Amino acid sequence: MAHDHHREHGRDHRHGHAHDTDIDWAEMAAHLETQAELFTPVYERAMAWLAKEVTEPGLIVDAGSGPGVVACLFAEAFPGARIVAVDSTEPLLEQARDRAVRQGVADRFDILAGELPGVLDELEYPADLLWASRSLHHLGDQRAALAAFAARVAPGGTLALLEGGLPSRFLPRDFGIGRPGLQERLDVVQAEWFARMRADLPGSVAVTEDWSALLTSVGLKHTRTRSFLLDLPAPATDRARDHVAASLARLREAGAESLDAEDLATLDRLLDPADPASVHRRPDVFVLGAYTVHTAVRPL
Ligand SMILES: C[S@@+](CC[C@H](N)C(=O)[O-])C[C@H]1O[C@@H](n2cnc3c(N)ncnc32)[C@H](O)[C@@H]1O
Repeated sequence: MAHDHHREHGRDHRHGHAHDTDIDWAEMAAHLETQAELFTPVYERAMAWLAKEVTEPGLIVDAGSGPGVVACLFAEAFPGARIVAVDSTEPLLEQARDRAVRQGVADRFDILAGELPGVLDELEYPADLLWASRSLHHLGDQRAALAAFAARVAPGGTLALLEGGLPSRFLPRDFGIGRPGLQERLDVVQAEWFARMRADLPGSVAVTEDWSALLTSVGLKHTRTRSFLLDLPAPATDRARDHVAASLARLREAGAESLDAEDLATLDRLLDPADPASVHRRPDVFVLGAYTVHTAVRPL
């Protein structure tokens, strides 16, 4: 999926308000890790593409790293670099640190816990590469956050944003149960959830998401934009099926009020592991998605 989507029933303890778009990131640890592992081919190709522009970085900062799968891939792809994984969810950072230990890169891997973007002030050095994958859109004022990200990039260094792309596809248009076109209707559920999530963020500011223009407006020089395809054809692996099931389960919850009874019944069948028509068992499940990366350089 181009964007994550969640609902949590609890309260947002940081801000004292409860919204149906509040996200419990710690609860999502396993899902974020499995998803990032599944997306590894995308990240590896994105890194090879970044390496054409970013040569021998000394410090790579992953802003909103989550469980550190990507931060550890950076450590592998750039063996001369020190990596700092930054996130507000400490259990995810502990997962990141454990992963770095398992992968033998802990000696050049640090974690930094705190709220973006302010926590970046605690970095000792400016970043040669600051990577922010699907984290900026969880911050209320994206332009202000981008300006703060840019301020932590070294002169000549690169800011890389993974934002947007295309909503993923998991099934044929007509997969034999319910009304064809379910995924297109789920795109609407996702888009509406995303808009509510943004509006509910503390200090939410509406901004036109022209990433090139935004990067330029914070004093960077937009250099390149490219999308990377995640193409996992049928028959899907168990890990891909788990990702599809988790994604559809969240959309079912987000669309509980807006989808019609037939679509909800179809989703229930797709999500029931005992049903041969479920995504756990059917032969036609695949994952096809696109993820867009924008890069910009801080002038010398
Ligand atoms: C959708 S996940 C992305 C994880 C990873 N970068 C990826 O692309 O798979 C968003 C991450 O941003 C973190 N995050 C959300 N709001 C944050 C904030 N205000 N400050 C710091 N991190 C935040 C969450 O804890 C979560 O790990």
